[in-house]
Amino acid sequence: MQGSANLNVMIKAARLAGRSLVKDFREVENLQVSMKGAGDFVSKADISAEKIIRDELMEARPNYGWLAEEGGAAEGKDPTRRWIVDPLDGTTNFLHGLPHWAISIALEHKGEIVAGVVYDAAKDEMFYAEKGEGAWLNQSRLRVSGRSSMIECIFATGLPFGGRSDLPETLQDLARILPSCAGVRRFGSAALDLAYVAAGRYDGYWERSLNAWDIAAGLLIVREAGGMVGPVEGESILDSGSIVASNEPIFDKFNKLVKNT
Ligand code: IPD
Ligand code: CA
Ligand code: CA
Ligand code: CA
Repeated sequence: MQGSANLNVMIKAARLAGRSLVKDFREVENLQVSMKGAGDFVSKADISAEKIIRDELMEARPNYGWLAEEGGAAEGKDPTRRWIVDPLDGTTNFLHGLPHWAISIALEHKGEIVAGVVYDAAKDEMFYAEKGEGAWLNQSRLRVSGRSSMIECIFATGLPFGGRSDLPETLQDLARILPSCAGVRRFGSAALDLAYVAAGRYDGYWERSLNAWDIAAGLLIVREAGGMVGPVEGESILDSGSIVASNEPIFDKFNKLVKNT
């Protein structure tokens, strides 16, 4: 796909940050780590990757706004556009030497996500999409799975850690959903969970208590791969931090099952 100038900037930033993360991952035992809350880690790798992405994006588009996990938010001169960035999604995996983590970069225009990149640097898998242009993994077009029978489907979710308040709902979700499907996976990166739905590796994914930077890029990649997304709670995915995503044939059933309606 011939991406727009913005998409190319995002991909370049993701590759540069990916190089830094892969280097840190090789020597992960020497990394400086601190805890932001119960079970919620941040390391020098997260901070360095975020700085690389910020420098790259801000140099290319100095007027755009900014929202990122570690550095917070900044208004841009252009109030209609903002980058939404998670420099390392799957920090807990990263710090345990598990090669399942990614960089997530989204571009929002007038409240809508118009471009998204999720880069699994350890496996060199670049997932990306632009509104109306389809979704891609490296040079190949992405398509959600075609499974329509729930009992053949594999779903992904996130399990609340530390003090996350959505533990009771998630346990009830599992009791309801497990008997209806072929399995539930918890790999530990919301951005990759969505990218994997887009790639047809998972048939669906749901999670609550997320932040915009976890899912902004991935939700567009799912949509552009022919999938469907919606909030679990409230009206808006990014405002509620909750998401249900799947291929089109099962969406109604899966959405109802997740919401218990
Ligand atoms: C986390 C991952 C995880 C999800 C957590 C997120 P982080 O992001 O996406 O899969 O279950 O809620 O906080 O902290 O590793 O960037
Ligand atoms: Ca985090
Ligand atoms: Ca995250
Ligand atoms: Ca993160």
